[in-house]
Amino acid sequence: MSNPGHDGGSRGGSGGRNGGGSRGPGGRGGKPGGRPGGKGGDRPNRSDRPDRPGRSGRPGNPGRPSRHTSGKPSGRPPRRPDDAPRPAKRDRYTTQIDRVEPLYLKTNTYFAQIAGGLEELGAKELASLGATDINIINRGMDFKADRETLYRINYRSRLITRVLAPVHKFRAENPEALYLETKRIDWTNIFRLDQTFAVFANLSHSNIDHSHFASLKVKDAVADMFRKRYRQARPNVDSDDPDLWIALHMYDNEATLSIDCSGGSLHKRGYRQQAVDAPIQETLAAAIIEISGWDGKQKLYDPMCGSGTLLSEAWIKAGNIPAQTLRRKFGFMMLPDYDRRVWVKVKFEEENKIKLVRGGLIRGSDVDPKAVKMTRGNNARLPGGDELIVKTKDFRDLPDMENHLIVCNPPYGVRLMKDEDMASFYGQFGDFLKQKCKGSQAFIYFGDRELVGTVGLKASMKMPIRNGGLDGRLVWYELY
Ligand SMILES: C[S@@+](CC[C@H](N)C(=O)[O-])C[C@H]1O[C@@H](n2cnc3c(N)ncnc32)[C@H](O)[C@@H]1O
Repeated sequence: MSNPGHDGGSRGGSGGRNGGGSRGPGGRGGKPGGRPGGKGGDRPNRSDRPDRPGRSGRPGNPGRPSRHTSGKPSGRPPRRPDDAPRPAKRDRYTTQIDRVEPLYLKTNTYFAQIAGGLEELGAKELASLGATDINIINRGMDFKADRETLYRINYRSRLITRVLAPVHKFRAENPEALYLETKRIDWTNIFRLDQTFAVFANLSHSNIDHSHFASLKVKDAVADMFRKRYRQARPNVDSDDPDLWIALHMYDNEATLSIDCSGGSLHKRGYRQQAVDAPIQETLAAAIIEISGWDGKQKLYDPMCGSGTLLSEAWIKAGNIPAQTLRRKFGFMMLPDYDRRVWVKVKFEEENKIKLVRGGLIRGSDVDPKAVKMTRGNNARLPGGDELIVKTKDFRDLPDMENHLIVCNPPYGVRLMKDEDMASFYGQFGDFLKQKCKGSQAFIYFGDRELVGTVGLKASMKMPIRNGGLDGRLVWYELY
């Protein structure tokens, strides 16, 4: 299977019923017809859900037909007044169309997206969470999972960006084919009229080569499918925080439509409410901790912690905390086979694995007091996270820290410290590592690979990893 994921694809958010990307009744801020239990709450099983509009007979009370009063039978049946009950018609919605059965239901196969270069690590993580038949593809992995495993992966994974459930795969040489095949899916079995949706697309080597256009085609097909069933009514589009994300991937005119069963990128953990100018992405920070081989026993220190992402990801690992412990709404809750009891069980089991993080195990500092405050506030959202030790300090004034794991993402010229002499700054950082961190291992992420040479230390490994579009390097120094 080619990669049905996307990176930097386009979102088909425009053209909602209330205008482009408008927030519908299922958006934030009160859902009149929302799920019981409030926004993002657990969803009842399909059989428990209230009836959907258009499925339960005709609107309005037909009442009692008025009678003709002339007293004389006319020989013809009396003309039926407008509000009289009409003869039952064949239900034109339930009979005909050859509907598509969601692909993932037949195969139990999903696709996990991950940053390029981290596929091997991602495959290991998937296996540790119970996935089977893992097959590495560029920037992702196909895998098989039962429902419990799928929920666990979304809840726990620290490295994966998103999990997609393929619904339909087909050839689409032209926009018409894309539209018609998308319309064959019974979207009303996946989301309700009062919920919102958005489409993102990623295309390559295909006749349709404009991702925004393709996502609009998909959006139109979904809306028209609803319109047909619900007397012109259709769900709204919400490009920021929809109830349902639909992913279109096209390669070589082969289209895959999937449901994002994470419900928005998993790098959004919820703990980082404030950030410095150039924060590292959460999934990348987690990957750095993983690549370092840290087992949660050795002391870990970040001497330029910024908003504390590396420290928080270390905290999540050491505390065995599900990375999405703060997320309330997952895309898998929209799947037709969503089972709330299984989700409650998974959540309960995984929460019970959370451990206390040993005092002083994870520490950090930054020269900027505002950054230190952010780190404290962010980490405090994690279980036990208010115990983190973080101080305002220039790394040049730190005491010796032997036999530590040093993780760090120093500033770089693109966004920070534009006027400073970066070479001399990095030279001083190299001196700090060499003189004060004896017996330690250091894993330093350089946002600008040109700066690696200015540290003046011999590297044991250099690994290219991109962060926010920057071609960065993760470098390992063994300090004796
Ligand atoms: C790229 S940011 C770190 C971002 C961080 N990894 C995050 O995810 O939020 C670099 C940080 O280095 C800090 N810094 C710059 N010079 C420093 C120094 N001499 N000592 C300590 N921290 C310093 C800055 O204040 C900034 O917060």
